[in-house]
Amino acid sequence: MIEFSDVTLTYPDGSNRVTAVNQVSLTAVAGTVTCITGPSGSGKSSLLALGATLIQPDSGRILINGTDAGGLSTKDASALRREQVGIVFQQANLLPSLTALEQLTVMNELGTQGARARRPAAGRRATEILATVGLADQAHKRPHQLSGGQRQRINIARALMNRPSILLVDEPTSSLDQERGSQIIDIVLDLTASEGTSTLLVTHDTSHFARMERVVEMMDGRLVDTHARAARSAKSDET
Ligand SMILES: Nc1ncnc2c1ncn2[C@@H]1O[C@H](COP(=O)(O)OP(=O)(O)OP(=O)(O)O)[C@@H](O)[C@H]1O
Ligand SMILES: [Mg+2]
Repeated sequence: MIEFSDVTLTYPDGSNRVTAVNQVSLTAVAGTVTCITGPSGSGKSSLLALGATLIQPDSGRILINGTDAGGLSTKDASALRREQVGIVFQQANLLPSLTALEQLTVMNELGTQGARARRPAAGRRATEILATVGLADQAHKRPHQLSGGQRQRINIARALMNRPSILLVDEPTSSLDQERGSQIIDIVLDLTASEGTSTLLVTHDTSHFARMERVVEMMDGRLVDTHARAARSAKSDET
């Protein structure tokens, strides 16, 4: 699980500082998707970058499975990120020369010792997760031979290769049409359930809001509106 407690982040802005995240408290628990919406510049990506330990907050605390991410050295933060956090950015950033399967297996070769011994297991995991996102029959294609939606599926599969407990997904559907975008959100929901990740998903795609644990809205760095699933389903019963 990932827990933000009273987290504030500012960036330098000329002689001042701009507050991107303002006293945000938010928790995502295992096996659920917490959705973050809000206008451009409201701090959504900054919040995910904090959760990914890519930047440190000015104040407040971020706990990742009980570990205080703020107290870690750069080395420990990158180990935590590698082992526990899966990150999906808006653009897939796949390597042009690698096949779909290799985009995943290459994750095993990065960073840690003992890659060779882990190769058979990594190959099995890659095949399994590629099938889960519906690309079993595209495993040997390179990015230029795949559609935008297929590339985004690989992006998501790659983020899950190392079995992270936290999944952070930033606007995965923005370059896709409604139908393909909706399929991507569906995959994020399914994988969150099957892999048991604590997922934070930034999206404006409302097609699957009902299946999300919580939908929160950011405005000028603050969480202004949050709807838990129980409250939303009670509301929809009224109408
Ligand atoms: N590296 C940075 N340096 C300075 N200011 C930044 C930096 N990154 C973001 N900001 C500012 O922080 C605020 C929040 O930006 P952020 O990217 O988190 O918003 P967002 O909600 O993800 O927007 P979008 O929907 O457009 O992706 C904005 O005012 C932005 O200009
Ligand atoms: Mg953003």
